[in-house]
Parts: sequence; C-alpha cells; structure tokens
Amino acid sequence: MKALYLDTIKNSISNPDPNHVAIIMDGNGRWAQARNLPRTAGHKQGASAIRKTVEEAIRLGINYLTLFGFSVENWNRPQREIHELMGLLRVYLRNNVNELEEQGVCLKFIGNLSRLPIDTVRMIKDAEVRTSANHRLILTIALSYGSRQEIILAVKKIVDKVVQGEIDVDQITEDSFSSYLSTHDIPEPDLLIRTSGEQRLSNFLLWQMAYTELVFTEIHWPDFDELSLRQSVLDYKKRDRRYGEVSN
Ligand code: IPE
Ligand code: IPE
Ligand code: MG
Repeated sequence: MKALYLDTIKNSISNPDPNHVAIIMDGNGRWAQARNLPRTAGHKQGASAIRKTVEEAIRLGINYLTLFGFSVENWNRPQREIHELMGLLRVYLRNNVNELEEQGVCLKFIGNLSRLPIDTVRMIKDAEVRTSANHRLILTIALSYGSRQEIILAVKKIVDKVVQGEIDVDQITEDSFSSYLSTHDIPEPDLLIRTSGEQRLSNFLLWQMAYTELVFTEIHWPDFDELSLRQSVLDYKKRDRRYGEVSN
C-alpha cells in the first residue's frame, strides 16, 4: 500500500504555477440563449467574469494574463452586435481602469486597433499610459486580433529590413521573428483556457502557443469564476511538458 502511494507521488507531475495564462473567453451568446436573453446580456455578464479572473490571477501569483476579447473574424458579426460590444468595452474601461491601476495591473492591448472607433482607441491608450508603471499583473487584451494577420505583418517588416540591407536573411531566427510580433515583450503562454466547449484556437496566438498546454472547459465564459481558474491551473500542473523530449 505504502509503495503504491509513494509510486503515485513519484509519478504525479507538478509543474510550477503558470507564468502566463491566456484565455479564449467564449460562450457569452450561448449563456444568454440558455436564459432567453439577448446575446448582449451574455457579453455584459462576461465583464464580471473578467473582474473575478483578474483578481484570482493576482492571488495565484500569475504574472501575465492574456484575454481574447474580439477577433478579426468577429468583425463579420451583425453590425448591431459589434456596436453593442464596442459600447460594453467602453463601459468596461470606464468602470475598471481605476481599480486595475490600484491593483497594480499593467494593461496592454494587442490587435489592429485602427479598426476600433476613435474614442475607444483614445480610452485604450489612456488606460495603457495610466497603468504602464505597474507590474503585479500584465493584463493583455486582444482586440480586433488575428494571429495570421499578426504573422503576415511581421513577415512584411522583416522583408522590408532585408530589402533595405538592415538585416541579413541568416539573422532571421525564432527569437528575432518573435520580436516582430505584438507580443514581443510578453513570454509565451504556459496555459491556454478556452471556455464553452469548443476545442479550437480560432486564430489566437498561433506562433506563441506552439508548446502551450490547452485546457478546455464546458463552462460558458459568463459563469467562469475564481474556482474555474484554480481548477484549470490544477489541470495544467498535472501535465507532462515534454517539449519533444522524453519524460524523466
Ligand atoms: C465570446 O462569446 C465573445 C466574443 C467572441 C466577442 P460568443 O459571442 O462567441 O458566444 P457564443 O460562442 O456565440 O456562445
Ligand atoms: C473566439 O471566439 C474569439 C473570442 C473569444 C474573442 P469565437 O466565438 O469568435 O470563435 P469561433 O467562431 O467559435 O471559432
Ligand atoms: Mg463563440
């Protein structure tokens, strides 16, 4: 019995806590639909799930949290839903930036922000400036973000440098390529959580997540809370991260 117990301990993997957690916040529409509410009600409720997740991430000592808020492909949704989402984003910023600032959170935004309404871009820039000295949690929100578009943009910048004679083709490495991405100043995610049952990446951080551990949960994003985050982190800690090698 004792031998079996020791064996279990020996075989149970315990990764250190994740340094960077990324989340695809999915299922707002289905959450609302299940309650006979308009999709916007789900998006609204999603904002409180963000608040809970950020607080718990701080408590767990996670250093980087990256949230997928709106994808390039989401621009193809009905105009009305897009309009309402942009409105909710402004409400989120208005209601939360002060608190985030006090909590020591540094807010960053990635994605093609030029497609967002100008007043929203101004609020985003203001939030980034106001929280730029903070370092307790780096909270990155991906808006109007698409990973393939980000990669193409990086390729164009590199080609331009080569054409100008500023860099040599041999100088293009995995590290130098990463430095041209919008995530150049944040480490690669250790853990990706996607809510609401879908098991795909939907054009999120494709390059950056080559060796990220994926956790899928059935919970719709508006119901995601402190416990859900802790459970996902526990799942992650049990994973054997081999990186193509053999386990010890
Ligand atoms: C995620 O919830 C929020 C955004 C993509 C903006 P959805 O709106 O995708 O909700 P479902 O997937 O339709 O339930
Ligand atoms: C991914 O969710 C984008 C965000 C969560 C912001 P979607 O709901 O847009 O993804 P698909 O359409 O199910 O792949
Ligand atoms: Mg969805």
